[in-house]
Amino acid sequence: MGKIIAIANQKGGVGKTTTAVNLAASIAAAEHSTLLVDTDPQANATSGLGFDSKEQHKTTYEVLIGSISATETVLKSSMPFLSLIPSHINLVGAEIEMVNETNREQRMRSALSSVRSSFDYVIIDCPPSLGLLTLNALTAADSVLIPVQCEYYALEGLGQLLNTINIVKKNLNPQLDIEGVLMTMYDSRLRLSNQIVEEVRKYFQEKVFSTIIARNVRLSEAPSFGKPILLYDALSSGTRNYMELAQEVLKRNQPNSSAHSKSSITLSQPVPPSTHTLPPQSSESGKIA
Ligand SMILES: Nc1ncnc2c1ncn2[C@@H]1O[C@H](COP(=O)(O)OP(=O)(O)OP(=O)(O)O)[C@@H](O)[C@H]1O
Ligand SMILES: [Mg+2]
Repeated sequence: MGKIIAIANQKGGVGKTTTAVNLAASIAAAEHSTLLVDTDPQANATSGLGFDSKEQHKTTYEVLIGSISATETVLKSSMPFLSLIPSHINLVGAEIEMVNETNREQRMRSALSSVRSSFDYVIIDCPPSLGLLTLNALTAADSVLIPVQCEYYALEGLGQLLNTINIVKKNLNPQLDIEGVLMTMYDSRLRLSNQIVEEVRKYFQEKVFSTIIARNVRLSEAPSFGKPILLYDALSSGTRNYMELAQEVLKRNQPNSSAHSKSSITLSQPVPPSTHTLPPQSSESGKIA
């Protein structure tokens, strides 16, 4: 039975899609069969693997509204162990169409139950919101990986995300665990980057991956070629970082792994306010949600 990991953070542009595409590709490169599920109407994970989302007619949208099964939507990527359920811009309508449906948060979970046994890992790329699409992903997932960008306001909104995870755990998916917090777009030249990593580690402790994703221009170029970083530039630091992340995820998920304590975080604990998350001039306006 494949492990389902949702990549979520309602904050935009923190590296969710970059992480979903490149973690999925790196796990696949280690010869574990992997399914990437694009649940974002922006369809960046779909185009990131070289598919034109406008041409897709069997997508997450059709799966969520129940018109086709997930199995019918699975596309083979150019990598042998990597498949994709693509997205399409019409997914924006799904949230409205599903609003009066019963079990609307559980659509993804039941849809994926038919395909997860064919894969070792299922990675879900979430949109930048805590709406019905993300709720579906969190309800379907075994764990959630939270990318956090190394910048001012890094912790902003994380309280709200943890609260949502807590609500999903309580009402919809008691098994949901935090896979880990991933620091992204780290710039070693900036003292700020180090301060932010330190601060996030203080709060999330061993839940923070040892792997840190550095800023690397090759990572931002790869999607326009429709390739994961390891096919675009195998020698880049981006490839190195995401391969290392994949190894860390694989290690944490080995049976009987002691590398990962499931009880190490109380999800209801508020994220503490912190000076490093404030903009340089202000100390008043940056309270953590
Ligand atoms: N480590 C990195 N180094 C350089 N650029 C990066 C890195 N990670 C992500 N980017 C770039 O930053 C931008 C935002 O990244 P990405 O699309 O992965 O974020 P996201 O959280 O999925 O955004 P959204 O919330 O809109 O879905 C993209 O242009 C991406 O190419
Ligand atoms: Mg994205």
